[in-house]
Amino acid sequence: MTSRSLPPIKIRDLKSIEDLSQLKSVEKEVWGMADEDTLPLTLAIACEAAGNIFVGAFHGEGGKEKLVGFAFGFLGREHGSTTVHSHMLAVLDDYRHLDLGSRLKQAQRERAIGMGIHEMTWTFDPLQSRNAHFNFSKLGVVSDNYKIDFYGPETSSMLHRNGTDRLWVRWLLNSRRVRDRLQRCAAGKDPRVETLDALRLLAPLVRFDPSGRPARAELAESLARQRVSIEIPGDILEVERNDMGLAREWREATRWAFCEAVRAGFVVAEFCRGVRGQQGPGAYLLQRGTISDLILEV
Ligand SMILES: CC(C)(COP(=O)(O)OP(=O)(O)OC[C@H]1O[C@@H](n2cnc3c(N)ncnc32)[C@H](O)[C@@H]1OP(=O)(O)O)[C@@H](O)C(=O)NCCC(=O)NCCS
Repeated sequence: MTSRSLPPIKIRDLKSIEDLSQLKSVEKEVWGMADEDTLPLTLAIACEAAGNIFVGAFHGEGGKEKLVGFAFGFLGREHGSTTVHSHMLAVLDDYRHLDLGSRLKQAQRERAIGMGIHEMTWTFDPLQSRNAHFNFSKLGVVSDNYKIDFYGPETSSMLHRNGTDRLWVRWLLNSRRVRDRLQRCAAGKDPRVETLDALRLLAPLVRFDPSGRPARAELAESLARQRVSIEIPGDILEVERNDMGLAREWREATRWAFCEAVRAGFVVAEFCRGVRGQQGPGAYLLQRGTISDLILEV
């Protein structure tokens, strides 16, 4: 669907049982989940009534509004503070690349700030270049936490065939970093041109070699530096479709690299897609230090 053919889409809270009962079909279409892995309607109703955040993107009007995307987050507790843990963000395939994902995250951020909350967390698969770009470049998340098989070795979701390793990311809602990133995106500016330059000069800890396989660098030498990079394929779902063994090699190699770097005191700071041209790999930039150091930088 192109933006020209698309009527306006409204971002609003999900309130009624009718609204919440539309969640399942979006979950099933986006993740291909079996019923037992979707959010039970009764739990959704209770979560909403207890003050958790459900925002939706609705297409159409009046009684004919169709839910085409949503974000769901519940209250959490971390580092002695109350957080929102955003468990799900989804936009139907036909409605992607229209900024709906970003608009849903911004609505979620406004709701959380309105509740006096300053931090949102969520997880995503670090092999998914699209999500990495969305989270680091557009939203400005940071991470120092890698979870191996977070949801177990597999689920019914078609997006979970290669294990469920996740980066646990932190979105520091009022930080300069996040405000600056959202402003740059709203102005249509490329978030971090300078990151791309930095990445081109670094020797990756895992490199996308000319045959498309992951090549590991010497660990001690890489981790002796202040900054390292980790490359990933441009489209891991295509790799999974063509060669599941290769997709698993990528999982093993990147798991090794993230775990070793985090253990050595690095934080994941940025991601750039297309570090060697449009179709090529993307790369994470990790730097030595803490998340507090990072959020003071713009
Ligand atoms: C992640 C998701 C919600 C984004 O929704 P969306 O409405 O397309 O989001 P936006 O339009 O705001 O932004 C998407 C960005 O990803 C980019 N993108 C899309 N496909 C990509 C790919 N294969 N590789 C790299 N970037 C990609 C888009 O170009 C856009 O960036 P840009 O605006 O800088 O060009 C949607 O893709 C989705 O539902 N994915 C499946 C569920 C999921 O993974 N959820 C967890 C997200 S953390």
